[in-house]
Amino acid sequence: PGDAILAPRAAPTPTMASFTLAASAAKFAGAKLDSRRAPAPRAQGRRAVTVSAGPKRVMIAGAPASGKGTQCELIVEKYGLVHISAGDLLRAAVKEGTPAGLEAKEYMDRGDLVPDSCVVTMVVDALDTPAAKEKGWLLDGYPRSASQADAIAEQGIEPDSFLLLDVPDEKLVERVVGRRLDPETGKIYHVKYFPPESDEVAARLTQRADDTEEKARVRLEQFHSNMKAVESCYAGNIVKFDGTTKKEQVFDNLKK
Ligand code: AP5
Repeated sequence: PGDAILAPRAAPTPTMASFTLAASAAKFAGAKLDSRRAPAPRAQGRRAVTVSAGPKRVMIAGAPASGKGTQCELIVEKYGLVHISAGDLLRAAVKEGTPAGLEAKEYMDRGDLVPDSCVVTMVVDALDTPAAKEKGWLLDGYPRSASQADAIAEQGIEPDSFLLLDVPDEKLVERVVGRRLDPETGKIYHVKYFPPESDEVAARLTQRADDTEEKARVRLEQFHSNMKAVESCYAGNIVKFDGTTKKEQVFDNLKK
């Protein structure tokens, strides 16, 4: 009520950005609170939104540094979905030194995709928590290949919506090398676009090991060689967004 996403509203105009969170919620109004369900029929296309309710299941994809994590911060703040980032799960596993983490590390250090055997179970387990089932989820950076899409589809895990951030390659390298992270809050900064608010925050910012130009180019190559196959898996649920505008503008388009 009072919220453009939750309140009834007119059918969206058929633009690229006319998705989405609201449509997905309406589609699953009354659905069981379970992240595993029968695969959704493909090619549903966009639909008129009436009333929304029920947990949403959203995937967000895009090239390295296209702004997935940044948009996830805003989406989680507004919609309360559980954010599941494949990259964050892997980095946590590397830090903990789990067997999957140890195996993943060498691939991540090169900028390559880690093998499915490292990442699929991690993601499926994260989707299978009470919080994700109850609040809905926002899956960031997974799937990155057709085999990963198939692996979760086999478990009946399908998104209501698949958001794809579109940013040309030449902008991405600048974003990658300028990215900084706050280890205390998890917030994402950029030396030029989102500098930290205070010297205290600036002093504790860190940089990811794979945020070099060289590794960014490998990650980009991986993205381009796999993404078409992923897109074809979710053809009916994909909505593309221009990710080159300011982050608030991207978010405004996304929630329309
Ligand atoms: P992951 O952590 O997922 O990295 P990624 O896909 O390369 O994406 P990033 O986290 O780099 O970028 P982002 O799109 O979240 O951008 P952000 O919002 O931070 O994966 C890392 C590695 O793990 C992979 O290389 C792979 O090895 C492995 N991996 C992960 N998932 C896997 C899977 N499913 N299968 C196999 N391997 C897997 O923004 C970037 C910067 O831009 C920030 O500084 C931000 O402030 C700035 N920015 C954001 N939005 C804007 C804007 N609108 N305007 C200007 N600047 C902006």
